Order: sequence, then structure tokens, then C-alpha cells
Amino acid sequence: MRDYGLITKQIAGVIESESNLIANLANTVALLKTTYNDWWVGFYLVENNNLVLGPFQGPVACTRIENGKGVCGTSLAQKKTLVVDDVHQFPGHIACSSESNSEIVVPVLRNGEAVAVLDIDSKNFSQFSENDASGLEKICQILAEKWD
Ligand code: SME
Repeated sequence: MRDYGLITKQIAGVIESESNLIANLANTVALLKTTYNDWWVGFYLVENNNLVLGPFQGPVACTRIENGKGVCGTSLAQKKTLVVDDVHQFPGHIACSSESNSEIVVPVLRNGEAVAVLDIDSKNFSQFSENDASGLEKICQILAEKWD
């Protein structure tokens, strides 16, 4: 089980003195990727109620995802964290990389509105749990407070 205590403090520390959103998202992704080494870690940003690719680390990804489509678009539509043990069983899953087998998507909610989603993909099946959901939701909350 992953311990999010240290990485949460690192992210809070790194973004504390910086107001630029892209810089903060990029460093958040870097910390997540280098700490846990998942296959793909990145943000999709809300633009006109749909998603467009933001800072990420991993293989080239789809640039735009419609609201309600795939795991990311469903998380956006429902404003809810989704933990998917086997992406191949998820109706409408968007396979940006064929090597990805499980996934977690966490919406970044600011004043009740989704402004982005954090997407983490793993080559392992069933990589993510409720522990990851609560740890990553806390991180997304810290980021949401810095959103402008
Ligand atoms: N798997 C995602 C698409 C984004 S990529 O995996 C980076 C989805 O179905 O929403």
C-alpha cells in the first residue's frame, strides 16, 4: 500500500511559492512519476467542458477527450474518482497505450466545478485502491486551492 504522507508534503512544498499552474502541475506529475514509477501520469485540463492534454510523463497520449467518454471523461462527467482494475472491461475505455491495464482518475474540483482530472495508468492489473483514491484526492485538493 502506498504511503502518500511524504509526497503530499513534497508537492505542497514545491507549489507553495509558485503561482504558475503549468509549472505546478508539471512538478506534481514529476513527483508522482519518480516516486511510484507508474506507466503514465498526467493531467487533462477542462476546456469548453471537454478535456485537453496537460502536463504528463509517459508515452504520447490522446490530446482531447470528450466529456463522458473513456475513464477520464466519465470521471469529469460524474465529478468522481474512478478506480478501474481492468481497463479492457471498462465500456468506452480510450486506449492511448495498449500496455496500460489498470487506471485511476481523480477530478480536480474547485468550488464544486471540475477544472482538470489527474490520470494514472499502470501496466499492472488492479494497481489502485481506495487508499490511492484518498491520497490522490488530497493532492488534487491542494492543487485546486492554487488554481486561478
Ligand atoms: N485511458 C484514458 C485515456 C487517457 S490515456 O490513458 C493517457 C481514458 O480512457 O480516459
